[in-house]
Amino acid sequence: ATDEEYTGSLKQQLAKLFEASLRATVPNELDVEPLIAACNPRFGDYQCNNAMSLWTKIKGKGTEFTGPQPIGRAIMKNLPASEMIESCTIAGPGFVNVVLSKQWIAKSVQKMLVYGIETWAPKLPIKRAIVDFSSPNIAKEMHVGHLRSTIIGDTLARMLEFSNVEVLRRNHVGDWGTQFGMLIEYLFEMFPDWEVISDQAIGDLEAFYKASKQKFDTDPGFKERAQQAVVSLQGGEGKYRKAWAQICEISRRGYERVYQRLGVQLEEKGESFYNPYIPGALEALSNKGLIEESEGARVIFIEGKNIPLIVVKKDGGYNYASTDLAALQYRLNEEKADWIIYVTDVGQREHFEMFFTAAKRAGWLPADDNMYPKTSHVGFGLVLGEDGKRFRTRSTEVVKLVDLLDEAKSRCKAVLIERGKANEWTEEELEQTAEAVGYGAVKYADLKNNRLTNYTFNFDQMLNDKGNTAVYLLYAHARICSIIRKSGKNLEELKKTGKIELAHPDERVLGFHLLQFAEIVEEACT
Ligand code: ARG
Repeated sequence: ATDEEYTGSLKQQLAKLFEASLRATVPNELDVEPLIAACNPRFGDYQCNNAMSLWTKIKGKGTEFTGPQPIGRAIMKNLPASEMIESCTIAGPGFVNVVLSKQWIAKSVQKMLVYGIETWAPKLPIKRAIVDFSSPNIAKEMHVGHLRSTIIGDTLARMLEFSNVEVLRRNHVGDWGTQFGMLIEYLFEMFPDWEVISDQAIGDLEAFYKASKQKFDTDPGFKERAQQAVVSLQGGEGKYRKAWAQICEISRRGYERVYQRLGVQLEEKGESFYNPYIPGALEALSNKGLIEESEGARVIFIEGKNIPLIVVKKDGGYNYASTDLAALQYRLNEEKADWIIYVTDVGQREHFEMFFTAAKRAGWLPADDNMYPKTSHVGFGLVLGEDGKRFRTRSTEVVKLVDLLDEAKSRCKAVLIERGKANEWTEEELEQTAEAVGYGAVKYADLKNNRLTNYTFNFDQMLNDKGNTAVYLLYAHARICSIIRKSGKNLEELKKTGKIELAHPDERVLGFHLLQFAEIVEEACT
């Protein structure tokens, strides 16, 4: 390997050495894979755990070894010479502890710096992934749950992209369904000149949605006309399609503002896109004998679940599940995705489990979860307010995302002004910094929490400049930049002339930590 060639994460590099040693130690056991794990730092950096299980495997089969310890010792002795390893010891029943060489760590960190962090990207066994995230529902305001999905989904997409996987970032927006009958009918009845003024009429989509829902619930005549409007829309009638498209467009402009602020890229392929594919998908499932009639609906019974997955409603209409099945088929067959990842709150876990199981039974997906193509549901917990209840503003309203981002930014700006930055910086610098810190803080607060548990939204905590916060990280980064600036050299120059030495024990810890980057990214991805 040339110097710039990436030879795998630390674990993989060690695994290669131990693999050679295992071949020499037990030449007849060809299917034994090296087991490398992190180690108690008091004893070393990594350990090889093969001795115990090897002993169970070969004892009584005429081996010359007398127990796991001698096997461990032999594994240690047979390790090929490598500048990577400083020393090894044996612990307990044959664990081989490895201490990495300080010089080698220093050299590797330097390589990482000179050739770029991207050369340390893990190699994943897939070519193309779809990350289905954010996915708000048209005409309903995006809420903090969609914010979590947006932040987590974008992060997953970035990690996979970093690892050289092609990622299709899909916004599976809820742009189809019976609610549109109500919205369109309301638009027609309340705003006869809607074609000219639709922007004013439904500019505040939330209010528009509420008003039409109110009428739908209280006015039986309207309800009937709304249901008729759904039929006209689904039948493709021009005027209805046009109104639908306008409502979608106004909604889209709203959430695109949020994506722009957060620096998130997404490509919209909403539920409506898959509508024409539903009959074909259901036919395929039906041919496999998966679909049954139940109480007037068409359903798929899933083992271990009390309620079946409804794929055609009593009234003959399709639903969320039928759309997801059609979308899955499309993503597998047309888009040839190896891994399809769905990011929603944990409340939808059942839905995903059920249609994943249906797809496996239909043979669309392998039954073995370790094989590709595969699907994963990445769930997340609720965002809570200080009162421990679902995060809401003053009244009972859901929090509007735009307001939330505005507040994060304005709080940051206030702190910067308080610290006298208004005199030092231009207005533009002030704005940019407030945005970077404010939006960064919101993202980081979301990501640092355990994904599956609920977390409490708290501006004071996330904007704190101490502790595990984005502000602190950005501050550390700024200080590092300042150290480099004060050295009077630029980074490119330093890369060529600087030499990394890990003299202090803490520096060694830091160097080792940096080198674990690749395996941490890989672990996070998988
Ligand atoms: N629109 C849905 C919601 O707001 C999320 C869609 C997630 N993606 C999917 N393919 N089901 O809850």
